[in-house]
Amino acid sequence: MATQKKKKNSPLPLATVAVFGAAALVTLVVYDHTPRTESMTVGENSAAVSELPAQTTVTTEGTAMLTTDTTTVLTTTVTEATQPLPPGSVTGISLTFYSCALKVGGNRVMPIVTMTPETATDKSEKWESSDPAVATVDGIGWITPVGAGKCTVKVTSVNNPAVFAEVVVSVTDPNAPTAASTVPIGGTAPAETAAPAAEGTASAESGAPAPAAPTANTTVNGRLEVKDGITYIDGIMIVNKTYSLPASYDPGALTPDADQAFAMLQKAAKLDGLTMNCVSGYRSYQAQDTLYHNYVARDGQAAADRFSARPGHSEHQTGLCLDVNYAGDAFHDTPEAKWLEENSWKYGFIIRYPKGKEDITGFKYESWHIRYVGTDYAKLIHDSGLCLEEYFGIDSKYAE
Ligand code: DAL
Ligand code: ZN
Repeated sequence: MATQKKKKNSPLPLATVAVFGAAALVTLVVYDHTPRTESMTVGENSAAVSELPAQTTVTTEGTAMLTTDTTTVLTTTVTEATQPLPPGSVTGISLTFYSCALKVGGNRVMPIVTMTPETATDKSEKWESSDPAVATVDGIGWITPVGAGKCTVKVTSVNNPAVFAEVVVSVTDPNAPTAASTVPIGGTAPAETAAPAAEGTASAESGAPAPAAPTANTTVNGRLEVKDGITYIDGIMIVNKTYSLPASYDPGALTPDADQAFAMLQKAAKLDGLTMNCVSGYRSYQAQDTLYHNYVARDGQAAADRFSARPGHSEHQTGLCLDVNYAGDAFHDTPEAKWLEENSWKYGFIIRYPKGKEDITGFKYESWHIRYVGTDYAKLIHDSGLCLEEYFGIDSKYAE
């Protein structure tokens, strides 16, 4: 382990900092909306750190206050190693997020850690919370809200404790009168009580069929509500052969939650040497209409109904699901499919149409189709071994 000494801080007028000695480390404390900390190796161009202007290079030691064109103010502290770090040492660390807002009793979150260089031999992490009364953190980085307040969760490289990163955690108590900040879960219903949808009517605006009345199965496991023609159970948006979306429902893209969760999933998979690409995410009602009818023309309706949803019945219209890498049976036996099966729940996704459940989901096994339900439900559903329909006790059958 290299010993390191912190050099005397001296403000530098320019957006350049340098270090003597190739083994020195630079710790950057970045202030924008929230403080964050990253590390970079001396000589590494600061473009690697997103908030730093690309032209910033590390050229001397000390502390610099920098203002970028996006008005981000940076404090850069340079420390010099008195001995070179041994080969294989960790020299940098980054996280998928550096701040989060949680609520008491709500979801836990986990930033994904990337330690550099890739060739570092020991990437083990040490996690700690500055105030466990506000939020706790476990050994792999799950941050759980406990009580209202603010704290910092820090992850440190065990191999090189000079390398660390921090997440600023704000926790609010929903029972407190001023509580406002939460981590949203994609696909959740608004908190207010939903009015039941009119049965057997069509949307006046779109002409789309109204969602099927939730009466097919009377033993739904959860609080079912219909809001603006969309069915939710315990806040989870439900779309299948029984429950449809209005044609006018158009998030236009993956929801921010699903998008961010998939980015985390991609990063985690990459650490395991696998590449996960979204090959089909959000699809509009009209796009699904075209797709479905093309399949019907090619394969006939009975066959198409086993693998393609009718317009208004596709989860792709929700902006909460996506197809990974290749939407076809050849994906089933890939390492990526196995990884998704074993790990996607950690990022809030479920395999929506599991193997052997066609009679229940209404669709053939799709190892590539993952649906965002938030980390709490993804874990519950994954651990149960049930598909979504079984978990909530609902049907998936066209009315016909
Ligand atoms: N392939 C799935 C079932 C869809 O069309 O939404
Ligand atoms: Zn799909």
